[in-house]
Amino acid sequence: MLTWDDPLENLNPHLSVEAGRRLTWPPVAADRAAELALEPEKCLVGGSRLTSNIAPIKYRWAWDAYLTSQRNFWLPTEIGMGEDLMALKKLSASERHTFFTTFATLTTADALHQRNLALAVYERITAPEVGMAIIAQMHQETIHSMSYQHIIESLNFDEDEIYLLYQKVPEIRAKFEYSNAKTLGLQGQSGDLEDYARGLFFYYMIFEGVWFMGGFCPIFSLQRRRLMIRTGEQLQYIARDESGHVAFGRALILALWRENPETRLTESEAHALMREAMELEEAYAEYTIKPMLGYDLKLHLRHTRYLANRRLLDLGFSPLYSATEAESLPWWEEQIGFRKEKNFFETRVTEYQTGGALSWE
Ligand SMILES: [Fe+2]
Ligand SMILES: [Fe+2]
Repeated sequence: MLTWDDPLENLNPHLSVEAGRRLTWPPVAADRAAELALEPEKCLVGGSRLTSNIAPIKYRWAWDAYLTSQRNFWLPTEIGMGEDLMALKKLSASERHTFFTTFATLTTADALHQRNLALAVYERITAPEVGMAIIAQMHQETIHSMSYQHIIESLNFDEDEIYLLYQKVPEIRAKFEYSNAKTLGLQGQSGDLEDYARGLFFYYMIFEGVWFMGGFCPIFSLQRRRLMIRTGEQLQYIARDESGHVAFGRALILALWRENPETRLTESEAHALMREAMELEEAYAEYTIKPMLGYDLKLHLRHTRYLANRRLLDLGFSPLYSATEAESLPWWEEQIGFRKEKNFFETRVTEYQTGGALSWE
């Protein structure tokens, strides 16, 4: 076994100690420069797996997303759930059904997305700063799972009832089966790049950008009536992260299309994917959303159609729904912190950030 007194050469044969015990490194720098010169230019996919240089940063949007995710670090356990334990007893049968089924769906969706990012999305990326942003996203998704578990334990929910509800309800299961089918196109290094691009569109713009962002709303509506306000607060932090994921996904897709024009989706392909997803959303919402004061199926679907239009417009496509079919909930932007008009409930604002001075500029 090595001890502190062993010569450093024993630790690493490439290290040498000159007279006077000054450490020197072998001339790897020159080798590395030669190695880099042979490597192709940094690119999103298909670049050298050896490229590890973060700088010079080529994909500024990815680096910014990485830094933002570090600033936005939060812990679910900092939010006490006591008030919700009391509020749970006040919910009507409709409200309880809507809360429980919506919450269970979000829980499964986040778990599935972690696997998807790790096994499929990240695997193909060869630009380090983009890879770092995806790993940071994976970490945020684990915080979301921690949040759900914190809520489950605090509210004394049956864990199996929450985690396995999707297996019992065909309308929920159908969304996840569809999602798994879309993951196939993302897996591995050598799969079809056009499938990979289609998979990114589905996961970032539909799964996160429409299903997930819309999925919070029934619980937000309860929160706005001062019911389940702590769960709502947890979801506000999650929604802040998710809006960052959607913005990152949009930039990733646009960059991929620029570098690999053959992967660009046509408008009819994007519309077809969105239409399929919205059919599943309608069936899901019919099952989960029962009439509540200030929220019902009609409002939910109008809002998710608005989100669908937004995601299509984000990528330069025309909207799928008319202005009368698609309309944002009036409190949506305020709820997820895009526009703060007033402090409508007495909780911490999700604009809070740690590491405010995080910048490498
Ligand atoms: Fe998430
Ligand atoms: Fe996400």
